[in-house]
Amino acid sequence: MQLFEPGPFHYLNNKLFCEHKSVEEIISTVGTPSYIYSKQYFTERFKEFDEAFNDVSHSIFFAVKSNFNLNVMKIFSDLGSGLDVNSAGELYRAKKIGTDPSKIIMSGVGKTKEEIKLALEYNIKLIKAESLEELKIINDVAGQLDKIARVAFRVNPNVDAKTHPYISTGLAENKFGIDASNAEEIYKIGSDLKNIALTGLDMHIGSQITTTAPFVEAIEKMAELYTRIKSFGIPLAHFDIGGGIGVRYKDEKVFTPQELATAIKPIIKQLNCEIMFEPGRYLTANGGILVAELLYTKKNRNKMFYVTDAAMTELIRPSLYSAYHHVQPVVINSERETIKADIVGPVCESSDFIAKNREIQQCQAGQKLAVMSTGAYGMVMASNYNGRRRPPEIIVDGDKFYTARGRESFEHLLWDEEVIKEI
Ligand SMILES: Cc1ncc(COP(=O)(O)O)c(C=O)c1O
Repeated sequence: MQLFEPGPFHYLNNKLFCEHKSVEEIISTVGTPSYIYSKQYFTERFKEFDEAFNDVSHSIFFAVKSNFNLNVMKIFSDLGSGLDVNSAGELYRAKKIGTDPSKIIMSGVGKTKEEIKLALEYNIKLIKAESLEELKIINDVAGQLDKIARVAFRVNPNVDAKTHPYISTGLAENKFGIDASNAEEIYKIGSDLKNIALTGLDMHIGSQITTTAPFVEAIEKMAELYTRIKSFGIPLAHFDIGGGIGVRYKDEKVFTPQELATAIKPIIKQLNCEIMFEPGRYLTANGGILVAELLYTKKNRNKMFYVTDAAMTELIRPSLYSAYHHVQPVVINSERETIKADIVGPVCESSDFIAKNREIQQCQAGQKLAVMSTGAYGMVMASNYNGRRRPPEIIVDGDKFYTARGRESFEHLLWDEEVIKEI
């Protein structure tokens, strides 16, 4: 069984550590299932990305959707990152940590009037529009508030990001953005709206992209479009490349920010504008693990099952996208043989699994397992299905750890729910 030890997650004397803290020790205090994040990892990833583009006018907006824990958001914010929010709920979180409105941008293919109003009232840097119809609504809401809304259209460049179909967003058949072929027309119409300032152009072609080629192809197309739109006299000032930078979950060969910079700088430098990025997964995925306890081991026919106390309710990525996550014991016993097992949760769905037919060291009930690379799109997608209480999130900083969010209680499950006598 191959061990995966990204960044500050490493084994010391057969025990898994996050930075200088033993995972076993954290778990003995907080229990399982629990998410554990590394502040050092988040910090190093942000700095690596930022430095790769230090000779270009650029800003990074952490895609909050990948991990919206207030303290994770604050770590990035304190490093100078902006925040990309996708809903009023995420905007509320950004406000809660006191983010400067000029460092917040809002995405979303179906923003409601209420969300648009909240964004305008908070005076955020930018709203990204995904259709002309939406732009007209933004114009109306801005008019009612007597404001000018700063907007960029998300343009769909029709580029194949060569990723899982559920996380590909830049193909003409996807629901996202406006079609590149009529973007010029739409910009012209939009620029006549009284309460709109079209300040930029935006793209986001998908997630977990593992080569630079789709970025280069899309950015080339969008850079041309950007220049044409500017030539109509629309004073664009920023080009937003979106997120999507892939990470290693299994054995993927991924590119570094430096390699991305080398590939795209010749194009973006010519635009002479602010280049914006919205990385999520790149910053957070390998900075987190989900720790579970093995509840039972059993064999049905010839198949071995390891039933853990973590399920699709804590981590839905395997069920949703057949995503791969390394699963490894928190404490290794090197004398044990390696077997193959399905690692599953207690939820009553056959799609409730963490890993299928996975090589893992033979374990026994009570042992703790680490599900690696779960810092992105993990806790944010957790649910209460089957009446399960969502797990805590712990942040390690050196040899200290903090509960960044506690484990949900039974009371949380019944929040705002009453038994109505008349029914
Ligand atoms: C508009 C937008 N920006 C940024 C991101 C972040 O993507 P990633 O986590 O792949 O970097 C997403 C993810 O879906 C997105 O929809």
